[in-house]
Amino acid sequence: MKTVKVSLKERSYKIIIKNNIFEDVAYYHFSKHKKSRAIIITDKNVAKYYIKNFVSFFNKYKSETLVVVIKPGEKSKDLLIVKKIIEKLLNSNIKRNDVIYALGGGVVGDFSGFLASIILRGIKFIQVPTTLLSQVDSSVGGKTGVNTKTGKNLIGSFYQPSAVFIDPNTLRSLPQKEFLAGYSEVLKYSIINDKKFFLWLDLNYKKIISKNSKIMTEIIANCCKKKAIIVKKDEKELNYRMLLNLGHTFAHAIEKELNYKVKHGEAVSVGLLMAMKLSVLLEKTNCINFNLIKVHMKKLNLPTTLNCLNPNQKWNAKSLIRNMQSDKKKVDKNIKFILLNDIGKAYIENHVSNEKIQLTIKEFF
Ligand code: GLY
Repeated sequence: MKTVKVSLKERSYKIIIKNNIFEDVAYYHFSKHKKSRAIIITDKNVAKYYIKNFVSFFNKYKSETLVVVIKPGEKSKDLLIVKKIIEKLLNSNIKRNDVIYALGGGVVGDFSGFLASIILRGIKFIQVPTTLLSQVDSSVGGKTGVNTKTGKNLIGSFYQPSAVFIDPNTLRSLPQKEFLAGYSEVLKYSIINDKKFFLWLDLNYKKIISKNSKIMTEIIANCCKKKAIIVKKDEKELNYRMLLNLGHTFAHAIEKELNYKVKHGEAVSVGLLMAMKLSVLLEKTNCINFNLIKVHMKKLNLPTTLNCLNPNQKWNAKSLIRNMQSDKKKVDKNIKFILLNDIGKAYIENHVSNEKIQLTIKEFF
């Protein structure tokens, strides 16, 4: 078992990483919220594998449960669906001391966290992430939200969970493509501020591909530790937390261009490499670093070009740049980029010419 603390004064919480953790979650509810109902929000795919087992432990401790199953996928991150589920919970007489458990990936976590932050002016919620992406990134740090036609997560809140319970064993039921897409976020942490971690990941790539339990526990704990430090310093993303958006300015533009018919983690993979390439073009870092990352991505079968994401798309640099202009992270007319001086040395760059951005994108057609 590994524990990581997210220190945010009265909103501090623990992340617990342990195989077969479901009974611990139910025991936590029994010991802390005995008189409350456990509202479990999950999606159809996750429910198929885990809901029976998960609920059985709450039954064992005689805790009352209510299960809400949403459709898998980004389409569920919709204000109207949040409203529908809120009406359902209000009709079932939800109380302010009831606790929401988000059992699933990033969509379930973002959706449930947002719902928890507004229902009855906010009730407690616990993250139980079951995908690699949600275990290393989205379940930690309190970003919640739903999508709009203009873009992803444009309606939302910063609302911290009361605890995060991570079971690395749940990765076994995850399709390999989804697992590897989530791995892009792991790689992101190493590129931001830990070259040693990157070299260790590279050394262990075969064990990563086979989802080796010891290695995955190590990776999840390390990423959560890194995220906890960043969130403690800058919870509301005023500056330092922006480093976590490495590769994401490009990735969000790519996702929008493909009408979100691409895995977020796969777009992040190409986005990371684009950020690296832009750093090379601006002479901030060298080609050796770019190639180290690219070769590592290829070993893990991660996409490294736009055509890998969709060979039928007519890619257009200007259109991708337009998409970047509408990113919510933009605070003035300049597009912010997270760039690299080295692997493990990321920084925020406010001034990049459109010409250099175009040149970068065109290298990935
Ligand atoms: N996923 C980036 C962040 O939580 O800030």
